[in-house]
Amino acid sequence: MTYDFAYFQKSADYVREKIGFTPEIAIILGTGLGPLADEIEDPITIPYGDIPNFLISTAESHAGKLIAGSLSGKKIVCMSGRFHYYEGYDFEQLTAPIRLFKLLGVEKTILTNAAGAVNVEYSPGHVVILKDHINLMGVSPTRGKNVEEFGPRFFDASDIYTKSLRKIALDCAKDTELIVHEGVYMFFCGPQFETAAEIRAARLLGADCVGMSTVTEALTAAHCSMPLLGISLMTNMATGVREEKLCNGEVGETARSVEVPFKNYVKDIIAHL
Ligand code: HPA
Repeated sequence: MTYDFAYFQKSADYVREKIGFTPEIAIILGTGLGPLADEIEDPITIPYGDIPNFLISTAESHAGKLIAGSLSGKKIVCMSGRFHYYEGYDFEQLTAPIRLFKLLGVEKTILTNAAGAVNVEYSPGHVVILKDHINLMGVSPTRGKNVEEFGPRFFDASDIYTKSLRKIALDCAKDTELIVHEGVYMFFCGPQFETAAEIRAARLLGADCVGMSTVTEALTAAHCSMPLLGISLMTNMATGVREEKLCNGEVGETARSVEVPFKNYVKDIIAHL
């Protein structure tokens, strides 16, 4: 398969025609933020399966539809359901969402996710505004033939999580009951949760939280100079921080317990972007 510019254009042409406006903000909803999709006004919903050259979400907790409309007074496009490497996609395929946003004219993207807390000062239910990430998985979504129309072969990765957007998110934290930190996210491919030794290593390397998403999208955003905000919900303490075994049920449970304040916090950020 050749992932050239025309390949991505085909998806964007279809979506542009369906939604009929230029969205200013894009948001990818991670575990726990799904209900935000229900608050989009005048929604136009497109199942991923209808979009040419797009991917289909296989993760159970991810809905698999693109929703365009208004939220917090802004024109937005929202991905309810995301694509993860552990689902079996090539890294190159995982560039599709951000490249679609770019071609639709999106100016800022918000990535949200559920993550495990590595920093022992954090607790489940806390939120982390990402200031940087660590990717030692030896992979990049932009490997392979460079698509020059999106960006150069070698690109800067020093401000992937845009400083000015982080400041807005941290300022909005004053008006939420949630506890909000700024921290570093470390990417693991999954789908297994990390081992206790991996988490100890992550902490030594400077990670505050770990997860199985976001970094592929963030690197694609950096490549095409897309301003980006990353927001992680700590759904659990990472492996080895406490005695009990980690299960996906716990991830969903914590997410549901802070669903309303988390949703309101993200809506407030969107209003201020
Ligand atoms: N590790 C990786 N991904 C996750 C975790 C975790 O502990 N919690 C939620 N997503």
